[in-house]
Amino acid sequence: MRKPIIAGNWKMYKTISQAIELANGLKRELYKIDPQDIDIVLCPPFTALTEVAEILTDSNMSLGAQDMHWEDEGAFTGEISGLFLKDIGAKYVIIGHSERRQFFGETNETVNKKLKAALKHELTPIICVGENLAERESNKTFAIVRNHVEGGLKDISQQDALKIIIAYEPVWAIGTGKTATPSQAQEAQKFIREILAKRYNNETAQAIRIQYGGSVKPENAAELMKEPDIDGALVGGASLKTESFAAIIKNSMGVK
Ligand code: PGA
Repeated sequence: MRKPIIAGNWKMYKTISQAIELANGLKRELYKIDPQDIDIVLCPPFTALTEVAEILTDSNMSLGAQDMHWEDEGAFTGEISGLFLKDIGAKYVIIGHSERRQFFGETNETVNKKLKAALKHELTPIICVGENLAERESNKTFAIVRNHVEGGLKDISQQDALKIIIAYEPVWAIGTGKTATPSQAQEAQKFIREILAKRYNNETAQAIRIQYGGSVKPENAAELMKEPDIDGALVGGASLKTESFAAIIKNSMGVK
């Protein structure tokens, strides 16, 4: 059985003191949860990684970052590498989020380079894929999802594929309050698993965890998690408050 994984993407929110407050609040709220049952990941902005790393030491939660560069070091003003993320204690890194694709020129090619660099540094990459509204309305959902999955995973071996997490995030559902219905999410995520099965084999496809992301809230977490191909959630807005993120985690557990 695939272990559920819930990650909070704090995006460009939380100063250091606010991040400390949120991480401590979650630690208090979630300390009873057995890390054997679920993986919990917090992805603060770069500036708060050090402080949150310290709070998460000896906790049942892991640290993640929101992006990285594919080179280890160099003249790349403003960038942060996998080497630095490893150094700070990160275990996960989000790659190819739709906001990076939309506003910062991220492409399948850069996603693929970052994915390889993350694996090199033994960071678990969370690769985001998904269609926007116009693409869904013109029946291009499957084509876009296939393009993102195949482009992002280019030249990734079967062994390495087992180390990654995919997040299906329909862009029209991100930050809009418009969640994909459980069956819409399931349909796309089943499709992703079929692509993985063809590309690698069925066993590998069955082992890779696929999260859903896009307006996940305490109220809809359980019904999404009930779907057979939804193994967790990548949460934006609702991860910014202790109560809502803790409730999403609690509501997601034991529903399979
Ligand atoms: P949202 O964001 O939960 O605020 O819709 C999800 C995401 O961007 O990962």
